[in-house]
Amino acid sequence: MRKTIYFCFFYLLLTMQGYAQMSQQARDSINRLNNEDHQAMMKLLNISALRPGPSGNPQAPNAANADESKATTYTSLPDPLVFKDGTKVKSPKAWEKRKFEIMEDFSREMYGRLPSNIPKVTWEVVSQKDTMISTYPAKEKKLLGHVDNSSYPAIQVAIQLTLTTPASPGAPVPVMVEFGWNFPPGMNRPPVEGTPWQQQVLAKGWGYAILIPTSFQADNGAGLKEGIIGLVNKGQPRKADDWGTLRAWAWGASRAIDYFETDEEVDPKRIVIEGLSRYGKAAIVAMAYEPRIAMGFIGSSGAGGAKILRRTFGEQVENLAASGEYHWFAPNFIKYAGPLTPNDLPVDAHHLVAVCAPRPVFISVGSPAVEGNWIDAKGMFLAAVHASPVYELLGEKGLETDKFPPQETTLTKGDIAFRQHAGGHTVVPNWPYFLEFADRYFSNGSKARK
Ligand code: GCU
Repeated sequence: MRKTIYFCFFYLLLTMQGYAQMSQQARDSINRLNNEDHQAMMKLLNISALRPGPSGNPQAPNAANADESKATTYTSLPDPLVFKDGTKVKSPKAWEKRKFEIMEDFSREMYGRLPSNIPKVTWEVVSQKDTMISTYPAKEKKLLGHVDNSSYPAIQVAIQLTLTTPASPGAPVPVMVEFGWNFPPGMNRPPVEGTPWQQQVLAKGWGYAILIPTSFQADNGAGLKEGIIGLVNKGQPRKADDWGTLRAWAWGASRAIDYFETDEEVDPKRIVIEGLSRYGKAAIVAMAYEPRIAMGFIGSSGAGGAKILRRTFGEQVENLAASGEYHWFAPNFIKYAGPLTPNDLPVDAHHLVAVCAPRPVFISVGSPAVEGNWIDAKGMFLAAVHASPVYELLGEKGLETDKFPPQETTLTKGDIAFRQHAGGHTVVPNWPYFLEFADRYFSNGSKARK
């Protein structure tokens, strides 16, 4: 328990990405720019006021709801297997068309569209060394993806990526790609109980990669005029359906896969995406939009990730649309915190899980006693349940049950897996279960699914 609390503390520091180390002046300046851009986006959408979100502090008078009996304020969820015109989706072929409708809704209303003129990325292997990760001989490559900025030289963008593969794999290996934190100099990784996941991965003869999202798109509204979004917009504000930070981070994952396709150590058909919290959101968005991702390990992604947004439990759309988080989304998404409501969304999180079908996806969450209720474990479970009919239509198996299980029940029989571990805001306790799940699809160098 003490270690978990320590981890949470460490994690909090890391999510700030050095924010805590910044001068008060620098912090004020970021907040001011966030507010200015947020206000400008509200003006663009003709919105004068937004509903405030509930508090993440369970003790606050306006604390987010954590009472299951008050959570289902919606009467129904939009059915992924019904077209907008009311026709039912009855075949895998029809699903491809319906999927297109869903992706269009996500792009326009929620995550934003990728611009058509994103410049090219050229990968450079900055350094390469033979190393030992515990007892595992490995090869580590540090890479930089240089983005062509000739269209707007004032902004420079480079994607930071590290790839670690077993020293003599014999054949191209699966790679677990983690959206990772940029540890400020002098700050070490948080202590981990048990075998670090990187060693668990190498023990299977697989590789891993750490992609640093904030190296190419900052995690705040102030940064939207910089990074890859700012470069493409030449430092100008976004349009209503322009990409948000989550799609920008997902774009970076796609560029990393472009590199993997050129690296003979990597099997680009066995790429896993993994992330926690805001990076869990980024991971499922990446998987939804990038067909080359074979599998997802989605950690405590919550609202804006795998949690049903219509549920009145934990974090709400009103929180996501406020000035601290709106940058993750297209400006259009702000509308759903006033004048519209989450019930007006044409899609919800079960659609996001559904568009990953037929690929295996593992949804991970921590214990409410340690992680809290902000993330909404049941909201993510329900998204998995309601995405399952799509997997079944495609001849796969969805989540194995629609009854919310006790903590530490491993639901990995289907192609959608769910596990609530006993720890906090972390994926660490679920790594062994995820790897066992992944093994079913990836083992023995075989590309065969199951
Ligand atoms: C906040 C935010 C969440 C997010 C989390 C994180 O709690 O409200 O949506 O997932 O930060 O990334 O740590």
